[in-house]
Amino acid sequence: MKIIRDPEKISIETGKNKQLKKRIGFVPTMGALHPGHFSLISRARKENDIVAVSIFVNPAQFGKGEDFKKYPRRFKQDIESCRRLGVDLVFLPDRDNMYPEGYSTFVNVDNLSDCLCGASRPGHFRGVATVVAKLLNILHPDALYLGQKDAQQAIIISRMVKDLNFPVKVKVLPTVRQEDGLALSSRNAYLNKQERSVALVLSKALRLAETLIRNGQRNCGRIISRMRQLIEKNRPAKIDYIAIIDPEQLKELRKIEPGCLIALAVKIGKVRLIDNTVIGRV
Ligand code: PAJ
Repeated sequence: MKIIRDPEKISIETGKNKQLKKRIGFVPTMGALHPGHFSLISRARKENDIVAVSIFVNPAQFGKGEDFKKYPRRFKQDIESCRRLGVDLVFLPDRDNMYPEGYSTFVNVDNLSDCLCGASRPGHFRGVATVVAKLLNILHPDALYLGQKDAQQAIIISRMVKDLNFPVKVKVLPTVRQEDGLALSSRNAYLNKQERSVALVLSKALRLAETLIRNGQRNCGRIISRMRQLIEKNRPAKIDYIAIIDPEQLKELRKIEPGCLIALAVKIGKVRLIDNTVIGRV
């Protein structure tokens, strides 16, 4: 396994592999790797000749007052996990070689970036789209692996890949959860014991919505209000948004449609958590 910090050097490395007709799978991360990340890496391992993982806490996607400084950084442990999972290339750039002095170019995916998480985190998806565009240009992977956990992010990146003709296949894999239903997230590390148990309301609210739909409820407003009631009973949970939307335009729906996305963001104390579910057939 090679650990490379310099964008030019990793471009040369992936370029060599491409000349040898090797298929490259790429998993972008911000580190503090957990089984959610592992599932992406394992799938990439199965489907490609070369697996590249980037670990970069991207300052461009954190707003003022957000957790950039305290975001968990466990590079040593992460590198060991990558080794264990059979990763070939770890890209570990630093801020200065990703955003050198004078850096001025940003990618904005209009319409999809200002709603849901984008509404409470202005500029967040501009930072995400920019860094992913840069990483794709640096690594030239054949396949890009993303998690459904960050549904809006996956939708925005898929849109960008299509709009900007990046020659990469985007694969979105299911959310990995703890046994009790909590979606794995690097930010779960911020929760104390009591908050950890309150955090279960996100997945519970989604399971409630699924049950209501299974029992015939099709009215989105009614479903959202039942989810709201459930969450509001659990202090210190505070709803940021609950939305039922179509998975392409992210437009709010009035009636449940096949393939629609139910997404929510809830603050548990100071920790903002997100989760979602895709409704299949109705
Ligand atoms: P990060 O939060 O480290 O997540 C990296 C990838 O892992 C993302 O595609 C995310 O959706 C996926 N992931 C996280 N938790 C998951 C879970 N419980 N189950 C399945 N997949 C999960 O998302 C980012 O980093 C950044 O925004 C990034 C795309 C790297 C750009 O900086």
